Amino acid sequence: MSNERLSQIREAERASHLEIYSTAELYEKGSWLQKPIKTVLDLLPVFANYQALRALDLGSGVGRNSIAVALEYRHIDCKVECVDILEYSIERLRQNAVKYEVEKEIEGIVSPIENYVIAENTYDLVMAVSALEHIDSENAFKEKLKEICQGIRAGGVVCLVINSGVTEKDKETGEKLSPQFEVNLPTQELQTILQETFIGWKILKSTIRHQQYDIPRGERTVDLETDVVTFVAQKL
Ligand SMILES: C[S@@+](CC[C@H](N)C(=O)[O-])C[C@H]1O[C@@H](n2cnc3c(N)ncnc32)[C@H](O)[C@@H]1O
Repeated sequence: MSNERLSQIREAERASHLEIYSTAELYEKGSWLQKPIKTVLDLLPVFANYQALRALDLGSGVGRNSIAVALEYRHIDCKVECVDILEYSIERLRQNAVKYEVEKEIEGIVSPIENYVIAENTYDLVMAVSALEHIDSENAFKEKLKEICQGIRAGGVVCLVINSGVTEKDKETGEKLSPQFEVNLPTQELQTILQETFIGWKILKSTIRHQQYDIPRGERTVDLETDVVTFVAQKL
């Protein structure tokens, strides 16, 4: 992907996230920030007997999932590192951490995921929800998956939600458009990469959900179709 195209996608994403995060409060009814994703809530009991929990949320946004983890485990020694490219996301995340009284548990870091070095054998949980497809290249994406794999300690869990096979077209004219995702792998290829990277892990969830959205983009409405791949696995 050219630098020009990358900058154009990133600027569009930045604008749309600024819009979303400045108009909806975390856990506000009716917004997409209304609640943590069910997949994250469902895996929380895995850590029920832990005395200490180390988690990493890549592309955390304003803390929709990470604050839920911190709330569940603030009675033990719990730390959740939250990484986001957007300074405003991390600003809001920190405000939300204060609001929900988990400021000791939540750490906000402004960084692109691709530049954030994941320490080896450190985390019990690594989450990346609708985030890894925004890494700046396919190679960096594959390398980051390997890093996640090495960053999780025995018994730990990876929880990924990744859009793949995305198509976009102008809702009115049907004109095919270039999807605004840095990494847009064919769904089958993504599945193969995940299976190969996390070989030997216990698969707790692996689903593909085809979704269609109408999204505003400048003057036009775009018809976006995507396969939402959810992958949760535990290191044995
Ligand atoms: C669709 S939102 C999801 C936020 C959060 N995971 C959630 O489920 O609420 C994607 C987030 O990833 C961030 N993001 C996009 N590209 C990124 C990158 N290369 N590195 C770090 N964060 C990125 C955006 O700023 C945004 O907050």
